[in-house]
Amino acid sequence: MKHLHCLITFVLMFSFGIAKAGEGMWIPMLLQYNEKEMQEMGMRITAEDIYSINRSSLKDAIVLFGGGCTGEIVSDYGLLLTNHHCGYGYIQKHSSVEHDYLTNGFWAMNRGEELPCPGLSVTFLREMRDVTEKILHGTNVDMPEDERKAKIDENIKKLVADLEKQTDYKVSIKPYFLGNEYYVLFNEVYTDVRLVGCPPSNIGKFGGDTDNWVWPRHTGDFSVFRVYADKDGRPADYSKDNVPYKPAKHLEISLKGVEEGDFAFVFGYPAHTNEYLPAVAVDQEANLIDPIVVDLRGKVLDIYNKYQEQDPKVRIQYAAKHANIGNGWKKWMGVTEGINHFHGVEKKRAFEKDFQKWVLGARNRYMYLDLLKDFEQSYKELEPYELAYSYLAEAGLRIELVNFAGRFARLSEVTKDTPQADIDKMVSSLKGNAATFFKDYYEPIDREVAAMLLKEYLKEQPADFRPDFLNGIKDVDAYVDQLFTKSMFTDEAKVNDFLDNFKPSKAKKLQNDPAMKAYQSLIGFYRNEVNGKMTELNANIDRMRRLYMKGQMDMQTDKRLFPDANFTLRVTYGKVEGFKPQDGKTYRHFTTLEGIMQKENPDIYDYVVEPRLKQLYNNKDYGRYADKDGTMHVAFTASVHTTGGNSGSPILNADGRLLGLNFDRCWEGTMSDLIYDPDICRNISVDIRYVLFIIDKFAGAGHLIDEMSIVE
Ligand code: ARG
Ligand code: ASP
Repeated sequence: MKHLHCLITFVLMFSFGIAKAGEGMWIPMLLQYNEKEMQEMGMRITAEDIYSINRSSLKDAIVLFGGGCTGEIVSDYGLLLTNHHCGYGYIQKHSSVEHDYLTNGFWAMNRGEELPCPGLSVTFLREMRDVTEKILHGTNVDMPEDERKAKIDENIKKLVADLEKQTDYKVSIKPYFLGNEYYVLFNEVYTDVRLVGCPPSNIGKFGGDTDNWVWPRHTGDFSVFRVYADKDGRPADYSKDNVPYKPAKHLEISLKGVEEGDFAFVFGYPAHTNEYLPAVAVDQEANLIDPIVVDLRGKVLDIYNKYQEQDPKVRIQYAAKHANIGNGWKKWMGVTEGINHFHGVEKKRAFEKDFQKWVLGARNRYMYLDLLKDFEQSYKELEPYELAYSYLAEAGLRIELVNFAGRFARLSEVTKDTPQADIDKMVSSLKGNAATFFKDYYEPIDREVAAMLLKEYLKEQPADFRPDFLNGIKDVDAYVDQLFTKSMFTDEAKVNDFLDNFKPSKAKKLQNDPAMKAYQSLIGFYRNEVNGKMTELNANIDRMRRLYMKGQMDMQTDKRLFPDANFTLRVTYGKVEGFKPQDGKTYRHFTTLEGIMQKENPDIYDYVVEPRLKQLYNNKDYGRYADKDGTMHVAFTASVHTTGGNSGSPILNADGRLLGLNFDRCWEGTMSDLIYDPDICRNISVDIRYVLFIIDKFAGAGHLIDEMSIVE
């Protein structure tokens, strides 16, 4: 045991000296520091070709798509590619049993047929600058935290105001390295974005949630949109007079495919990582919180599955909900497995030993002295609150009825003094909410979910860590029965009637609804018992994490560290490569259409193959999209460090040309958000040749290909 421990320490110390291949999410404006390494790995372009503010560069083709994905512009007419699962919500909004675009796909055969997507925006980064000095001005390590925060807020406010006077762009200042550095981002947000096309789910979601996070993978995970602008190319809300957006740069597409060992990089918007946590936090997340959430979600999904299999209408209604809940469920399972299998907590502990030794090595490191000890203490204190929060979110508010009732909370507080205009606004927005809610609501599912979740809640959380209404329940089934029978929120007609005839005297009726009572009890518990304490503890933890980050940077001056993902544009790079997930098992780096035929099973929803795709396969009708080995390549893996938000990001080759769309990671390596291991962390991309093959040969939408710049 002791020997093993020494070995781990040695390996770890050694590996800290050299940058791990593939690890890192780099700030584009500082890419000149990575350029040499990137070129040594095979890149033939320059950092300036990727990010420049003096001339057009690849960054001009990259967007934040909606609030959670990445997209890229691939034509001079604003044509945009992202993942199918990123466009999913918008495709679903346009879908009904009669026009089932989820099942059948959708293709606009001309611009007039493109479908507007209200609420969808894309954001271009125009420029970024380091403003650390200005923002940290007037702060120091010894000052009280609230003073520091006030000073920083003041500095940010002032600088934003100054900069906004000089530009039409949206200005935002974001912390990097957990608040040790600050950068300002100048963004431009386009709000007229239209759906151009998407494959049927049998292609875009092939393998479904069964294959999600898993390699080998065969998902054609792409959809096509178009960005529109006003006549001057400026952002404008939807109008039929808008014209396709002309970008400063669009991506060229490579039809050459990939070879094992090829350099590749991903350019996009990774959302959140926590690579610099102390061991105690990693342990808490991987071994306590994640398993509880996984268990609760697993039970919800079992219920969804049962009903979805019985009724095609329910299958559509719960498709997006299932995908959302299922995604985290599976990922966090992988995180726990990965952290344990690769001894992540032990590795962190070993590093902490070295850190402590380093701290003791010089007097001016005094501020780090008690840091690790304090972390242990603070995370222990946080634990019951983390659990309470998880149950609130994953058990209480997961009940759709209760969640929906919560939207009426403000209306329930209306009095005769509330201005009529405010009431009218609330009522009209709630009507919209109700329409969306009931379109996808199936009461029997919600009843069963509610009974299951409330039982879990009562079983697992101590009475003093539960909302009051739960403590009043004697028989959960009887409670659920009366909740669903007595609440008006299960009945669309009643809700609409109520809204149509609303007056302040009726607010009482809302307050007395049992679903509203449950909601208020949950939220009240959160406000009074959880939020305050959690905020206080987290504020202290954030301070310690910022300090620990600084300590790690000071200690490892020979190593360039990258800032955790914070939903800003980053470049990450590695190699096209497969991996060995287990002893005796090796994964090749690509999959082909043969694999789709092998997985085919007409009886399993996730594995139904479109007849038209089969026909193309049988005739080997792949056109110029076939690999030189004669097969149709579908997906490939690479050792590029990615996370949620990178979905839809372009993966590019040594010349900066599009190879594919990133859409997932291999589940053995999902712990890469906490610890990156170059041996098993792999991102998964759909091969651009498969995307073009589907657009062209399968859908007959070759007019879209004609817009693109293709390099054979
Ligand atoms: N796991 C991928 C990501 O985190 C894809 C999720 C969508 N696909 C799905 N089958 N649910 O977003
Ligand atoms: N599938 C993820 C996304 O939607 C990507 C990942 O987590 O690897 O952003």
